[in-house]
Amino acid sequence: MHEPRAHWSSNIGLVLAATGSAIGLGNLWKFPFITFENDGGAFVLVYLMCIAAVGLPIMMAELLIGRKTQKSVVGALKEAIGPGWGIVGLWGVLCGFILLSYYTVIAGWSLFYFARTVQWTLGGFPAGFSTGDLFDSQVSNAGLQLTLSLAFSAATVGVVYFGVQKGIERVARLFLPLLFGILVLMLVSALRMDGAGEALSFIFRPNFAELEPASVLEALGHSFFTLSLGMGAMVTYGSYIDRSQSIVKASAMIVVLDTLIALTATVIMFSVIFSVAGMREQVGASTVGMLFISLPELFFTEVPFGSVLGPLFYVLVALAALTSTISLLEVVASYVIDEHDIDRHKATILCGGAVFVFTIFAAISFSGAPFFSTLAIFDGKTGWFETADHFVSNWMLPTGGLAITLAAGWFMTREQTTAELVDGTEPAWFRYGVWRLFIRYVAPAAVGAIVVAVLFFGRDFS
Ligand code: PHE
Repeated sequence: MHEPRAHWSSNIGLVLAATGSAIGLGNLWKFPFITFENDGGAFVLVYLMCIAAVGLPIMMAELLIGRKTQKSVVGALKEAIGPGWGIVGLWGVLCGFILLSYYTVIAGWSLFYFARTVQWTLGGFPAGFSTGDLFDSQVSNAGLQLTLSLAFSAATVGVVYFGVQKGIERVARLFLPLLFGILVLMLVSALRMDGAGEALSFIFRPNFAELEPASVLEALGHSFFTLSLGMGAMVTYGSYIDRSQSIVKASAMIVVLDTLIALTATVIMFSVIFSVAGMREQVGASTVGMLFISLPELFFTEVPFGSVLGPLFYVLVALAALTSTISLLEVVASYVIDEHDIDRHKATILCGGAVFVFTIFAAISFSGAPFFSTLAIFDGKTGWFETADHFVSNWMLPTGGLAITLAAGWFMTREQTTAELVDGTEPAWFRYGVWRLFIRYVAPAAVGAIVVAVLFFGRDFS
């Protein structure tokens, strides 16, 4: 017996859940780092253009395919376009599976740093302590990594287990306002620091002389990751949208909120980093450097109210990551629920357990464990952790995204997509023809460029 399909309780429920999926480590960890690497200003502007010209139209496309079919990604693509499209859906499910396997490990680090910063708040930051060494020792400690990622996986499974309204939506309603609140507190504190002016001009003053063509593709690739596009998460969340709820308004809100959070996080981090002489050089060395090496110490040495804001910041990272891992697991679990007729409770535990096997590989990628630390399918990527990240960011999300744009722009008819987007719930500013232009021409051309760059020129965007 099939239960009636679950729905978000309201438009706000949908917007919060989908925004929760979008806001994650991509905003707090990847975006500040790539902005730094690509010299800010011009890169940020290009990123905003990618979000508006490619991210927003594809967001609407994914949500509309979900709402129209009321099915998770495999069933949705089969029904909306044709049976062969189930393969594209499966590609998305696989992508969710792989992405979740290593994302959980980084999410686990936030738990470790939360515990550490609490310890420092209570006992004081030890003089002469090296946070660089701390990072290296925690990441290479297999037992610790397994414990942290197991805790995070359990939390993810625990939410998805309770379903759309009682699990996913409830957590989003609770956590997102909290996340916004913490971010505002941090912004207020960061803007009072000496480096704030320099940070703002670094981020918002474009200097096109410094922009390289590869940066444009990097910005584009990141807009997929950060908006959770290209792998069916938004198709799946779209399938829980009630007919009375507007896709256009929701898409715009999700995209704007995700972008605001990414920019705010970047302003905060750069204000802190630019306030300390010599910190710029230190941060440039690695992706993890900013979030897990420089910031933990700076909270206790530089940031006003840092001993309170430090632990809160890692709570923020954990909450943002959790609302993303939930959506990743939901893609996999809802596929099993819808296509293989397994009930939600069983499906969630089954899928969570299967993903965790690969999380183990990711968790011990840096431990020096034989095989798992050296496995190198792609040049220069070690362990399942880096291999998976490379594969997802470079291959899976862009190809999945390209398939979605072609599906919505070329394979679905004008009547089908109009019926979803122009149904009396759309806001006054919305012009269907503009969306169709972007989804048919602009988005496929842009995403196609990434695929070509990766496939034929061996570019690496992760
Ligand atoms: N959008 C999430 C982030 O920015 C990552 C994610 C990608 C989540 C795809 C779900 C699906 O961290």
